[in-house]
Amino acid sequence: MPNTTRCRICGGTVTEFADFGRQPLSDAFRRPDDTTEEFFYRLAVGFCGTCTMTQLMAEVPREKMFHEDYPYVSRGSAVMRAHFRGVAQRFLDTELTGADPFVVELGSNDGTMLKVVAEAGVRHLGVEPSGAVADMAAADGVNVRKDFFEEATARDIREGNGPANVIYAANTLCHIPYMDSILAGVDALLAPDGVFVFEDPYLGDIVARNSFDQIYDEHFYFFTARSVAEMAARNGLSLVDVERIPVHGGEVRYTLARPGARPVGDAVTALLAEEEATGLADLTTLAAFATRVGKIRDDLVTLLTDLKAKGERVVGYGATAKSATVTNYCGIGPDLVEFITDTTPAKQHRLAPGSGIPVRPAADFADPYPGYALLFAWNHAEEIQAKETAFADAGGRWITYVPDVRVV
Ligand code: SAM
Ligand code: TMP
Ligand code: ZN
Repeated sequence: MPNTTRCRICGGTVTEFADFGRQPLSDAFRRPDDTTEEFFYRLAVGFCGTCTMTQLMAEVPREKMFHEDYPYVSRGSAVMRAHFRGVAQRFLDTELTGADPFVVELGSNDGTMLKVVAEAGVRHLGVEPSGAVADMAAADGVNVRKDFFEEATARDIREGNGPANVIYAANTLCHIPYMDSILAGVDALLAPDGVFVFEDPYLGDIVARNSFDQIYDEHFYFFTARSVAEMAARNGLSLVDVERIPVHGGEVRYTLARPGARPVGDAVTALLAEEEATGLADLTTLAAFATRVGKIRDDLVTLLTDLKAKGERVVGYGATAKSATVTNYCGIGPDLVEFITDTTPAKQHRLAPGSGIPVRPAADFADPYPGYALLFAWNHAEEIQAKETAFADAGGRWITYVPDVRVV
C-alpha cells in the first residue's frame, strides 16, 4: 500500500510517488562551530487524485524556514534582477495606470522587484517574514511589513491602505501550505477588477527535465494550469491567464481574477490541453519520473566516486536550496565534493545543510581551479558559464545532472 495523506487544497487523498528520505532544512547553512542538533524530516511528494495538486506529504513549520537569518536573496543573479525589473515595468505600464494604484508583493525578499515600483512613486507594500532580507528592502526605500501573509494580515492591509490592484508573488506561493488562508486574504484585499499574479516552478518542466531538486522543504506545491484552476475555483477565484517563463529552470506565471472580471485567455486552454496530452495529471507519469530520478542518483554517485578514485578535485557551484535535496538524497558529502562556491554572504563560511560540505566565497573557486565543477545552480547555467570562461579555458569541466548526468 502506498503512503497517503490529506490534500491541503481539497481534502482529497494524496498518494505518495517519490521519497527523498531524511532531509535537513534546505536553507539552514550552519556555522562550523554549531553543536546544536540539526533538524531533519522525511521528504516525500504525492499527487491528489481529486484536485490534481502535487504536494509534499508533510509540512515543515514555517518559522523553521523563514526567520531572521533566512539567507536567500533575489539580487544574487543578474538574470533575475533583469527579470524583476521587467515584471515591475509591465505592471507599471498595464495594471497600475489608474488613479493612485496600489500593489502588494508576498515574499518581497530583498525588494528587488518593488524597488522599481518605489522609484516610480507608486504605492506599494512588500509582505516579508524573513527579517534580514526585509531590512535590505527597507534600506532601498521599499515599504515592507515584516510578517507572514495570511488572511488576517491581508484584512489589516486592506483596512489601512484600501484595495490592491495587483497582488504579486514570485517563488513564494508554492512555499505556503495554508492556501485557504492565503486565498481568503487575496479575496479580502484585491480590488474588484484587480489581479493576483504568481510565478513558480512548473511541474511540467520538472517532469520533462527530471529536475527533482526542485523538491525540498520550502517548495510545498508543484503547480500546473489544471491544479491552479481547480484551486482558484474552490476559493472563489478564476484562472484567466498563464505564461511560461524561462527562469529557474521553467516556471509558469498564473493570473487569477474574480470570476467574470476578466476574459479567460487562450493560453489557459492551450496549456490545459498540453497537460492532458502529456499525462501530467496521471499518477503513472509521476511514478515514471520518480524511477528516472533514481537512475540519476546512481549515475551521479558513480561519476563522483570514479573521479575521486582518479584523484580529481570536484567543487560544487551554487549552494542552492535545491542542492540540499541532491546531496542528502545521493549521500554526497565533503569526501566527494570539496566545497561549494557561492556569492551569497549569508551562506559563506558555513556548512551546507545535512551534507556538511563547506561553502566558500566565489574567489576560492579559482584558487586554484578544480578539474570539475558540479553545477548545483543549473538554473543559472548561461549566466554562470558566461562569467566562468577562464575555468573552461583552464581545462575545467562542468558536471550537470539535469536532465541526466553529463560532463560538458
Ligand atoms: N520573491 C523573491 C524571489 O523570487 O526571488 C523571493 C523568493 S524566496 C524563495 C521566498 C520568500 O517567501 C522568502 O523571502 C520568504 O521569507 C517568503 N515567505 C514565506 N512565507 C511567506 C508568507 N506567508 N508571506 C509572505 N512571504 C513569505
Ligand atoms: P537559486 O537557484 O535558488 O536562485 O540559488 C542560486 C544560488 O547560486 C544562490 O545561492 C546564489 C548562487 N550563485 C552564485 O554563487 N553565482 C552565480 O553566478 C549565480 C547566478 C548564483
Ligand atoms: Zn486535492
